[in-house]
Amino acid sequence: MNQAEFINDSKLLSGILNDYSNIIILCDQNTEISCLPLLNLNPVIPLISIPPGENNKSTFSLNLIWNKLLLANADRNTTLINIGGGVITDIGGLAAATYNRGINFINIPTTLMGMVDAANGGKTGINFNGLKNYIGTFSEPEAIYILPKFLKTLSVSQIQSGFAEMLKHGLIADKQYFKQLTSMDLEFSNFEIIHFTELIKKSVALKDNIVSKDFKEIGKRKLLNFGHTIGHALESHFINSNLPHGHFVSAGMICETFLSHTIGKLDLAESQEIIFSIDNIFNRIPFSANEIDEIAHLTLKDKKNKDQIVKCVFLDKTGEASFDNDITIKDVVESLSFYNS
Ligand SMILES: NC(=O)c1ccc[n+]([C@@H]2O[C@H](COP(=O)([O-])OP(=O)(O)OC[C@H]3O[C@@H](n4cnc5c(N)ncnc54)[C@H](O)[C@@H]3O)[C@@H](O)[C@H]2O)c1
Ligand SMILES: [Zn+2]
Repeated sequence: MNQAEFINDSKLLSGILNDYSNIIILCDQNTEISCLPLLNLNPVIPLISIPPGENNKSTFSLNLIWNKLLLANADRNTTLINIGGGVITDIGGLAAATYNRGINFINIPTTLMGMVDAANGGKTGINFNGLKNYIGTFSEPEAIYILPKFLKTLSVSQIQSGFAEMLKHGLIADKQYFKQLTSMDLEFSNFEIIHFTELIKKSVALKDNIVSKDFKEIGKRKLLNFGHTIGHALESHFINSNLPHGHFVSAGMICETFLSHTIGKLDLAESQEIIFSIDNIFNRIPFSANEIDEIAHLTLKDKKNKDQIVKCVFLDKTGEASFDNDITIKDVVESLSFYNS
């Protein structure tokens, strides 16, 4: 499995990219403005730029990218360079994995979410019929380059979003890391990139360690879905909100921590401590009691579930988790009612 390479100097990254003879850049209209100028790339390199946002992780945008690849005469020797957040690395990875039966691609994440999670691990995808990541492949990028300097132009809400996945990494695999993250003085509006780089490296290493043992998500990799069973249901319900992915994951982690105690092995004090720490960082997502049933039923649409049984990751302790725990819609409703209380 290819591991992310950390690069501190944008000139170094420009050098690597400008050395390629046959590349095409994919970005969105925001990363085109905020990130591309830092790289000072050769202006003759073809550029595909799509509108930003989760709504554009769609068949429409995928079609557009394929068309632009064709227009730029991309062939089996072309490498697609995805420069953006999780939306760009997910859809760009899928476009590359399918164009001409697969061309090489490189991920250059520009969001915290992308750096700690989306750009690593080889999952590509788009949303389909309102369902998150329903169409996609497992395809490894040829390389992943992380330039933490890109984070400087990111909004506070986007930084928080990536932070949710970092908390998840600690919760499922490393108690000490979780404690380190939650005891930090979190000034997201004025954070130190140098300090953050070490944390990003830790999260990447924790994810890589899990993915390297189970690339196709038959077993252990499922642990990375902690907070996502209920988080994705909330995200599908609020599909037109502008709230970034990690905020839904924070809500999902609260609900699934609650269930880890009420159904699983997590002790009460530990569950309360975890929920308190998450609440310290994230505002709860408001919804009415009337919406709970509909949100709960969306968990059945999760592609990992079979026959009306919802599979969920539970925390056994802080830093230790188990997968394939069966939960019912009633359990999901209870956890959402707890979250809403
Ligand atoms: N493949 C995986 O394993 C995996 C893992 C986690 C998340 N994801 C996916 O990632 C997506 C979320 O990723 P995201 O939060 O990065 O979303 P995103 O790509 O939509 O980026 C968030 C916003 O920030 C803008 N942006 C990106 N970089 C910027 C920068 N440096 N400065 C200013 N603005 C910038 C983007 O244009 C966008 O508006 C979801 O679709 C999720 O499903 C995939
Ligand atoms: Zn996620």
